[in-house]
Order: sequence, then structure tokens, then C-alpha cells
Amino acid sequence: MTEKFHQYTRAKAIVQQIEQLAAITEQSGCVTRRYGSPAFVEGAHLVAQWMQEAGLQTRIDAIGNVRGRLVSPNPHAKTLVMASHIDTVINAGKYDGPLGVLMGIDVAKQIGQSTILLPFHIEIIAFADEEGVRFHTTFLGSQVVTGAFNPQLLAKQDADGITLQQAMSVFGGTAADLPNEAIPANDWLGYFEMHIEQGPVLDNRNLPVAWVSDIAGQKRILVHLTGFAGHAGTVPMSMRQDALCAAAEMVVAIEKFALQQPNLVATVGTLQIPQSASNVIPGNVHFSIDLRSNEPDLLANAYQQLQQLCTHIAQLRNIACNWQLVQHTAPVAAHAPFTQLLQQAIAQAGFPDVSLVSGAGHDAVPISQVAPIAMLFIRCYKGISHHPDENCNDSDIAAALQVADNFLYLLIEQHT
Ligand code: GLV
Ligand code: MN
Ligand code: MN
Repeated sequence: MTEKFHQYTRAKAIVQQIEQLAAITEQSGCVTRRYGSPAFVEGAHLVAQWMQEAGLQTRIDAIGNVRGRLVSPNPHAKTLVMASHIDTVINAGKYDGPLGVLMGIDVAKQIGQSTILLPFHIEIIAFADEEGVRFHTTFLGSQVVTGAFNPQLLAKQDADGITLQQAMSVFGGTAADLPNEAIPANDWLGYFEMHIEQGPVLDNRNLPVAWVSDIAGQKRILVHLTGFAGHAGTVPMSMRQDALCAAAEMVVAIEKFALQQPNLVATVGTLQIPQSASNVIPGNVHFSIDLRSNEPDLLANAYQQLQQLCTHIAQLRNIACNWQLVQHTAPVAAHAPFTQLLQQAIAQAGFPDVSLVSGAGHDAVPISQVAPIAMLFIRCYKGISHHPDENCNDSDIAAALQVADNFLYLLIEQHT
């Protein structure tokens, strides 16, 4: 009972931090902290301050990840990473990302203040770019930490023509520093991420937490359509090369296609008409496609079929269609023995053994290439996410803290 009360008090403090971080935003009235923006930098410094106050050895690395370490007295110890991200989508919720970071800091703080002799190091990381909003490619922060960062990404430009290399300079490092920011492959003990579910299953089943079995693979595509701009009053309808009409037909065709495939989702989330005016026929349009499935073959086939579908629509309308794959991550399974420990922690806390497939991407995806991963999902209000109404109960956060504490104690026991 005292233990539960303790976790509830910790949950309340975490929610206060969530509110404080959410107030740091690019636009007042909504939560937007894109990678490298002034709001992002301010938020990263606040998280660094909280890590320091929690007793962690803290720094911001060259790509902008905030990293805090609780060091084991054993010089040969491996490192357990607990992490999530603090960048957001535009007009985001408050919990997607920050909840996992702040819970990780809190769990590490409890261990640091105890008499436990840590058999491994604990590193808490607030990843800098999980959403991929600014450069259309995700997991920039976690790829640096795994050592798999592709330096070609440094030339990528945002909507204002600023390159990633320029954007990362706000953190004081250079591209040459990036390889040194990786945790060497032999030093990883494992990776644990806590995150809101971002879907409705736990809410429907009235459960606070579940473990993650798989994370869907995803492809992000940018489609550039080039027609011919012209006078909206003079060019007859039958003689137009309207890039926007082609895009509209593609958007609807993509939706229709995905509706017919169980286990596949496809979203056109951005669409731009550069130099648009109400009296000009759109000559150029670009839009994004986000395609996801936890079945690799289904994802690969859908990708090919959608490319054919869009090329066909473009040909019929005499529009040039440039199709650019900007991101691909394969579906990933959680590490079974590591996740079994998490299942044990859930059972110890008295919750049923329930697993979920994550449709959302997480930094656990690139990290699965170098370390065992386990993820804990926490119920969110009505399953709403990537939306300002995103919310999470104090009591569910307390339940998740109980599971996380158990998980850490089990892991410490295993390695002592
Ligand atoms: C991240 O939230 C993603 O899955 O796009
Ligand atoms: Mn997100
Ligand atoms: Mn997230």
C-alpha cells in the first residue's frame, strides 16, 4: 500500500513535468517541438536539468540527444538504456515520447537514491528526432546512438532549405563527432522503452499496461508531381495538366487500396502546392505517403502496387511523377527473453499478461539491431494520439512505474 502510494506521488510529479515541457513550444496554444527548433533546444535543456537533479551524469550529445548516466561501480559493466523521445509532431499531444523519458529518469533516480549496488550502468536518453517531421526521416537520434547513422542524411534539407548538418550545429557538435556518440555494440545490456499505446485496445479492455510483441515496419515516400501551370480562366478543362487533380485522384486511390488490405495502413499526411494561387492551375504538387504493416511481404507488395497505381494515374493525366522512398524500416519483434522478464514484472504487479503489436514507430526499432529490446505500453485516453487531446491517467502512470521498478529489480537480480 505504501509502495503504491509512493508510485502515485511519483506519477503526479511526472505529470507536472509533462505539463512544464508541453508549455515549451514553437507556437503558443499547441505543442510543437520539431527537431532543432528553439523550442526543442529549450526543452532539451530543461530535461537535462531534470536529469542532473535526479543525480545522473548528464550531457547533450552532438545530434541533440539528452543523455544521463547512473554509473555502476563495476568498470566492466554493460549499459541498460531506458529512453524515448522529446521531439513532437505539429500540434502534438503532451505524452507521446516525454512520458517514457520522464518515467525513465524517475526510475533511475529511485535506484540512484537506494543502497543498491548497480551491476550495470543505466543510461536515460531523450532522443532528439523520432518523429521525422522536419527532415522526413525518423530515428535520427537513436541511429547515432547505435552507430548506424548514415552521414548522407546530413545533406537532407528541411522545408526552408536548412540541412540537417546546419540544424544540428545548435547543439555545439559537428558531423565528425557523431560516430563517437555511439554506444559500442559490446557495451549494450538491453533497451527498455515505456510509451503510451497511441491506440484504443487498452482503453477498451480497461487495462493499464501491456507488453509489446512487435513493431510494424514502415515506408515513407515523397511523391513530386509536375504538370503545367496555367491561367485558371483561359485553359479549357480538357487541355489541362493539373498536378493537384492528379494528386487528389492518387490520395483517394491510396485510401481505397489500403482499405482492402487487412494489416496495412497508408496515410497521405502532407500535401503542398508550391506557389499556389486561386487563379492558377497547379503545375507542381508534392505529398507524402506513410505506409505500415507488421508483415514484411505485405509491406513490400503494397509499396510496389501503390507505385504502379500512382504512375498509372500520372500517365493518364500527362503528369510527370517522381517517386522517392525516403525511409524504410522493417517490422521488428521484441527480444523474447528480455521481454519475458517484463512479463514477469507485469505479473508481479498484478496485471494480466497482454501483448500488443505497435503500429507506431519507436526508437526501439533501430536499437533492435544492436541490443535486446523490450517495450511497455501504457493506456492513453480513448487511444487518442498525435492530437492535442492525448492524455494519460496518473493511476496508469503509477501502475507502469510499478512494472518498471519490478523490471529493473529483476534485471539487477539477474546480473548480480
Ligand atoms: C511516430 O510516432 C510514428 O509512428 O510515426
Ligand atoms: Mn509520435
Ligand atoms: Mn512516440
